[in-house]
Amino acid sequence: MQNPKFDLTGKSALITGAGGLLGVEHAAALLECNARVVLTDISAGVLEAARDRLAAPASLVELRTIDVSRPEQVADVAQSLRGAGMRVDILVNNAAIDPKMKGGAGMVESSRLENFPLEQWNVQVAVGLTGAFLCSQAFGTQMAQDGKGGVILNIASDLSVFSPDQRLYRKADLPDDMQPVKPVTYSVIKTGLIGLTRYLATYWAECGVRANALSPGGVFNGQDEVFVQKLSALIPLGRMAQRDEYRSAVQFLCSDASSYMNGQNIVMDGGRSAW
Ligand SMILES: NC(=O)c1ccc[n+]([C@@H]2O[C@H](COP(=O)([O-])OP(=O)(O)OC[C@H]3O[C@@H](n4cnc5c(N)ncnc54)[C@H](O)[C@@H]3O)[C@@H](O)[C@H]2O)c1
Repeated sequence: MQNPKFDLTGKSALITGAGGLLGVEHAAALLECNARVVLTDISAGVLEAARDRLAAPASLVELRTIDVSRPEQVADVAQSLRGAGMRVDILVNNAAIDPKMKGGAGMVESSRLENFPLEQWNVQVAVGLTGAFLCSQAFGTQMAQDGKGGVILNIASDLSVFSPDQRLYRKADLPDDMQPVKPVTYSVIKTGLIGLTRYLATYWAECGVRANALSPGGVFNGQDEVFVQKLSALIPLGRMAQRDEYRSAVQFLCSDASSYMNGQNIVMDGGRSAW
């Protein structure tokens, strides 16, 4: 029997980075609960592909291009949705840049803290952290002002609660100072999102706006076999997540099913942080 507290009929949910691996899953999760979804991403092409994958009725899926690091673009979309009579009841701050660690003999390994470019720090923080602030500012303010409240869900990572295990990224035959690492930005952004979550959770609580974070562990997406084996060995469940395994948590956190949860970080990591 379906619990009516999960029902999002008549609600609209805006998802940032909706053209990516998990963004589409968040959209599918919310559509399953009868929400209308506004898919946003920096590129129109990925949005159209995401819409095709969702195969939902056209009336339930809106597309908007936003670079979340650009305040004027966020404000324009907020205004255009409002002008079209659409209230954003749920905001999922999901967009991020996943820094790739290349590594290779003879290269300066720019992922390493010693070499990490300031420009990369600025770009990644602008998307993953400032973008969540700007979207929360634009859409959270609207939720708070009209008295109807709303929900903000920040997609963090298991790296919001522990440091990356850099042994996972080691390449054979490379000296220590050329070993690729998970960059410092990822930890800083994801931990920062938890601070933003707590701040928002208290700031607009009296206006009925709740904010929580979801911290997923790594999703299997065809990664290198050695990496997958090393990571799986750190996880009590012995495997990475499937891409659809966060859907139920998104449904819970974005609906009245979690009406008394506010300011929390739900860590879904197969038990990794319990070890
Ligand atoms: N995939 C995982 O294993 C995993 C694990 C833990 C946390 N997460 C987090 O989940 C979220 C989604 O991850 P994913 O794996 O789907 O990543 P992804 O790279 O597949 O998707 C991210 C999306 O963000 C978009 N984006 C990048 N810059 C943008 C900008 N300036 N403005 C708007 N959109 C922009 C990209 O175009 C992309 O579609 C991220 O916050 C990520 O850190 C992912």
